[in-house]
Amino acid sequence: MNTSETQKRTIPVPLANGETLRIRPIAASDGDLIAQAFAEMSEQSRYQRFLSPVDKLTSHDLKYLTEMDGSTRFAWGARLGSRSAGVARFVRFPDEPLTADVAVGIVDQFHHRGIGNALVRCLGPVAALVGIEEFSFDVLSSNEPMLALLRSLDVTIDHDGMIDRGRIRVEDLPPPPVDADRLVAMVHEVIGPIGRRIP
Ligand SMILES: CC(C)(COP(=O)(O)OP(=O)(O)OC[C@H]1O[C@@H](n2cnc3c(N)ncnc32)[C@H](O)[C@@H]1OP(=O)(O)O)[C@@H](O)C(=O)NCCC(=O)NCCS
Repeated sequence: MNTSETQKRTIPVPLANGETLRIRPIAASDGDLIAQAFAEMSEQSRYQRFLSPVDKLTSHDLKYLTEMDGSTRFAWGARLGSRSAGVARFVRFPDEPLTADVAVGIVDQFHHRGIGNALVRCLGPVAALVGIEEFSFDVLSSNEPMLALLRSLDVTIDHDGMIDRGRIRVEDLPPPPVDADRLVAMVHEVIGPIGRRIP
C-alpha cells in the first residue's frame, strides 16, 4: 500500500482542543509510525510504557509491535497531521483468553490532549468483536498519568507493590468517541475478516 492509500484508511477522532486525531489499525506496514512515536517519547515515557529501560527498538521489536491478527493482538495507531501521536494495543493472555493486556504509549509532546483516553475507548469495540471480555493494565505504581487515565475510564485499580493492576470489563468501558461500526469496518478493511474467536 502506498502512503496516500494508507492515509485514506484512517478515521478522524475529534479532540477536545479542536484538533483531529487520525487513527487506523496498526499493520505490518506501520513500522514508521511505531519507530517515530518511540523516537519522540522521553526516556521516562519509554520506561513507563515497557516497564523496563528500552533505548531503541530492534527490527525484531518493530516486527512484534506491528504484526497484528486482530484477535490475539490488535493496536490502533494515531497521527496528528503527519506526526505519529501514539499507539494503544491489546494482547490476549494465552492462559486467560477472555482477558487482554492493554498498553498505551503517547508521544510526550501530545500528552494531556485526551489521546490516550480516546485510543483505549476505541479498543473496546474491537475486543468485543473478537470475544475479549476484560481489559487488564499493568502500570508502575509511580505512573500517575496512566493511573489518572485509568481513573478517567472508571477502571478498578489494585495496588500491589511496584506494579498496579487495572481491570475493567470491556462492556463497562466508556463508548468510543467515534461510531463503533466505523471502527469495526476499518478493522475488517485493514486486517481482514475477524470475528469472535476464543483460542
Ligand atoms: C499515560 C499516558 C498514556 C496518558 O496519555 P494522555 O494522552 O496524555 O492521556 P489523556 O490526555 O487521555 O488523559 C487521560 C486522563 O488522565 C489525566 N492525565 C493525563 N496525564 C496526566 C498527568 N501527567 N498528570 C495527571 N493527570 C493526567 C487527564 O487529565 C485525563 O483525565 P480527565 O479525562 O479526567 O481530564 C501518557 O502519559 C503516556 O504515553 N505515558 C508514557 C507511557 C505509559 O506510561 N504507558 C502506560 C503503560 S500501559
